[in-house]
Amino acid sequence: MEAASDRGTAYEPGDFGEGKRGEGMKIGVIGSGGREHAILRALWRSPDCEKLYAIPGNGGMSEAETVPGLKASDLDGIVKFSREKELDYVVVSPDEPLVLGLVDRLMEAGIPAFGPSRSAALLEGSKVFAKEFMKRHGIPSADYRVFSELSEAEKYIEDCELPIVIKADGLALGKGVIIAKSREEARIGLWSIMGEKKFGHSGDRVVVEEYLEGPEVSVLSFTDGERIVPMLSSMDHKRALDGDLGPNTGGMGVIAPNPCYTEEIAGECMERILLPTIRGMKEEGRIFRGCLYFGLMLSGKGPKVIEYNCRFGDPEAQAVLPLLRSDLLPILLSCTRGGLSEELVRWKAGHSCCVILASDGYPGAFESGYEITGTKLCREVYMAGVERKEGRLFSSGGRVLGVVGTGESLPEAIESAYRDVEKVYFKNMRYRRDIGARALRLMGGEDGI
Ligand code: AMP
Ligand code: GLY
Repeated sequence: MEAASDRGTAYEPGDFGEGKRGEGMKIGVIGSGGREHAILRALWRSPDCEKLYAIPGNGGMSEAETVPGLKASDLDGIVKFSREKELDYVVVSPDEPLVLGLVDRLMEAGIPAFGPSRSAALLEGSKVFAKEFMKRHGIPSADYRVFSELSEAEKYIEDCELPIVIKADGLALGKGVIIAKSREEARIGLWSIMGEKKFGHSGDRVVVEEYLEGPEVSVLSFTDGERIVPMLSSMDHKRALDGDLGPNTGGMGVIAPNPCYTEEIAGECMERILLPTIRGMKEEGRIFRGCLYFGLMLSGKGPKVIEYNCRFGDPEAQAVLPLLRSDLLPILLSCTRGGLSEELVRWKAGHSCCVILASDGYPGAFESGYEITGTKLCREVYMAGVERKEGRLFSSGGRVLGVVGTGESLPEAIESAYRDVEKVYFKNMRYRRDIGARALRLMGGEDGI
C-alpha cells in the first residue's frame, strides 16, 4: 500500500481545503479510472471528509491513499478492508462491483455504501431486463427482439431492416454493442457474441434492436429511490478518431452541458423517462439508490433511452463534477440515507470540456510505460491509466488521463482544455482534436438543429 503523503502530481492534498481534517469521515472510493479520480477530488473538497482511500486507485491520485493490491471486483477483500480501516462510507463507482452486489455486501456488514443494490444494478447488468422493464413501464426506447438461440437470431437478421443494432445481454466492457450496416456485419457480430462467446456468459442472450438516429445526450442523476435530481447534461465522444470515425471507445472526451438538451426536452424526459424509471424500479421492489445514468437519443420520434448505466459515466463525471457548486458528500449520503432534495445540488454557471489523452492504438492494442510530463502545469487533470514509480508518472493504460477546461462559454471551455493539453506529453499519446466541435456546430444551427 502506498501512503498518500509519498505522492503528488498536479495537486497536493493541501490544495484541497485549509485547516480541515479533524473528526471527518473516512471514505473509500472503489475503482481506478479518471471518473474515480473526479469523485475523489470532489469529495476531498468536502469539509466533512478526513481521509480517502482509492481501491485500488491509480498512481496519479494524490488526494487518496491507494490500495493497489485490492481489485474492485474482490468483494470479500473490500468488505474486510473496509472493516479493518473502519471506513465510514464507501462509494462504489464501477459497473462490475455494483452488478456483483458489493453495495449489498457492505451494507450487510454495517458499512454505508453509495450505489445501487445488486437487484437495482440489473438495469445495467442485463440489457434484456432493461428493455423489458422499459416496455412494462411505457418508457420510450428502440423496438427490439430478444434471442437466446443463435439459430433464431441468425434467421431474424437475414430479413430485418438495416442498419440493425445487436447487443450482448450482460456487461461487456462497453464493447458489446454492434451497429451492423450490412447483413455480413450483422452475421459476424452475432457470431462473435453468441457463437464465439467473446464476452462469455454476457452473450448467452442478445437484444436485437431498431437503429435510431439523432443527437445523443448523457444525463447522470442522483437518486435516493424516491426523488431524482439530474446533474448537468453532457455529450460524450465515443469514437476513437476525429469526425466521429474509428471504433467505439469508452469515451474520448465530453462537453457539459449538452446544448441539445434544452429545458423543454429536459422537462419531457423528466416526465416520460426519469420519473417513470425511478417509480417503476420501486414498484418492482428494486429501489434504485445512487447515480443513474440515462443514455438518451433525441430521435425524430422524441427522446428515447439507448441505455441505462447504474453509475457515473467515464469521462462524463470528469466534465460534470467540476461544475458542481455544492459539496458532493452530503448529496451522496442523501442518496444512500434518503432525503435527497434539489436544494442540495447546485451548479456553477458555465461550461466544461474534458479531453482524454490516450495511448495510440486504444481501444485496440497499445504500448504504454512512457513517462508523463507537464500535468502539474495544467489546471485540472484526472488520472486514469497512470502508474507511479519513484515519484514519476508513467502511462499504463488505454485512456491515460483527462484534461479539463472550464469557461463562461463552451468555446472558452474547449480552448482552455486544449491549451492545457498542449502542456502534457508522453510517448505514444493520442487525442481527439475536435471535442466539442459538433456541439458548437449544433449551437450554430448547422447539422439540422
Ligand atoms: P453502449 O455501449 O450501450 O453505450 O452503446 C454504444 C453506442 O452505440 C451508443 O452510444 C450509441 O451511439 C450506439 N447505439 C446503441 N444503441 C443504438 C440504437 N438503437 N440505435 C443507434 N445507435 C445505438
Ligand atoms: N462514457 C460512457 C460510459 O461511461 O458508459
